[in-house]
Amino acid sequence: MSTLSVFIETPTVPLSPKTTLLAAYTTDKNFNKVYLGAKEYLTEDGRCYMFPFIWKIKLRMADDPTLTSRYLPISGFPEFTRSATELALGQDSPAIIENRAGAIQTVGRSGAVRLGAELLRQWYNVNMAWCGPVYLSSPCEDSLANTFRAAGITDVRHYHYWDPEKQNLAVEKLLEDLEKAPELAVIVLSASAHCPTGTDPSQDQWKLIAQVMMKRRLFPFFLLPAQGLCSGDPAQDSWPLRHFVSLGQELFCAQSFSHNFGLYGERTGCLLFVLKESTTLLAVQSQAENMVRTLWSHPPGIGARVVTTVLNNPAHLAEWQEGLKRIVEQGMLVRERLREKLRVLGTPGCWDHLTQQAGMYCYTGLTGKQVDFLAKKKHVYLPADGCLNISALNSRNLDYVAESIHQAVTCNL
Ligand SMILES: Cc1ncc(COP(=O)(O)O)c(C=O)c1O
Repeated sequence: MSTLSVFIETPTVPLSPKTTLLAAYTTDKNFNKVYLGAKEYLTEDGRCYMFPFIWKIKLRMADDPTLTSRYLPISGFPEFTRSATELALGQDSPAIIENRAGAIQTVGRSGAVRLGAELLRQWYNVNMAWCGPVYLSSPCEDSLANTFRAAGITDVRHYHYWDPEKQNLAVEKLLEDLEKAPELAVIVLSASAHCPTGTDPSQDQWKLIAQVMMKRRLFPFFLLPAQGLCSGDPAQDSWPLRHFVSLGQELFCAQSFSHNFGLYGERTGCLLFVLKESTTLLAVQSQAENMVRTLWSHPPGIGARVVTTVLNNPAHLAEWQEGLKRIVEQGMLVRERLREKLRVLGTPGCWDHLTQQAGMYCYTGLTGKQVDFLAKKKHVYLPADGCLNISALNSRNLDYVAESIHQAVTCNL
């Protein structure tokens, strides 16, 4: 028998840029170091954000002998998928009333995107042996393209989203790209709190997007990564979905409860379907369940039970909505402070885009060289695209970060 491993030829995957960034920060011994690349909402003292009443719900659940750790159904906790669907579409959504909307509980939003991709690959317009194109925004988060490719969708393309000169949405180019996309292409759209630009279309712009997509028969695959944490109002943050539904459009939506409930480790998400008929919905849901058997078999229970408890208890619902508003107001305050500090320092350029954006992601417009300078000379770490997590800025580090950005922009690089 050979003494060599049968995996001897396996190459090691290089560390991801985010892992490399975090490792550089962790090993940096400088007292002033700041990490702005965190994936979670953070508190003023830099810890992962936790709604106090959710902590209490979890403690009560841990003490409840009626809650056994039996498997949840493959499609998820039914009260959770119902509540999640109503949260996204509104309780009076025509799609819900007509039994054309449903959901499958997933392992976070990441699991929802993967499950949606698998369904598209196997069942989207099945006569065509479909493997794309899927269009993603440019820029978008790193993992999306690979998730679609991993499901066998080889044709992944990009549509314009960001205008670096105007530091705003490139709406004309976006619409042009949609006009040019082949019929039946799948378009991945962020409903609110776009990652990484923090910039979303206005309602009028969404109406234009929907018009073109209907005309070109393009299929919307929405992302709803942090409902309520963009405007502070969950209904407003899912308005684009509700608008598409009001036009009779079919859609998928990958929903996450990581940010807006502080349930990161609990892996709580949903893949939502709105289809033309309830019979088609049942068929697609059965296929999704079949796929879940080969992916994670049964979804995790705790997060789904917490979300269901909150959404179905008026007192908790009010606490949650208040909490969302507080986080959004705090984020806006930090954006204003950063912009004001840069103005007082006389930092060249217009920094109004900082306060025009919303949600956790702040697309600063800093160049790769400036980002590099910040890490190497100032011990301030953010991803190469200059997108920082706004909740990582606090009263202890904001002045230092602003002064460091000022130096990065004004020194001769
Ligand atoms: C852009 C974006 N959306 C959503 C999420 C949440 O994903 P999940 O629900 O898989 O935790 C994250 C987490 O990092 C994210 O960066």
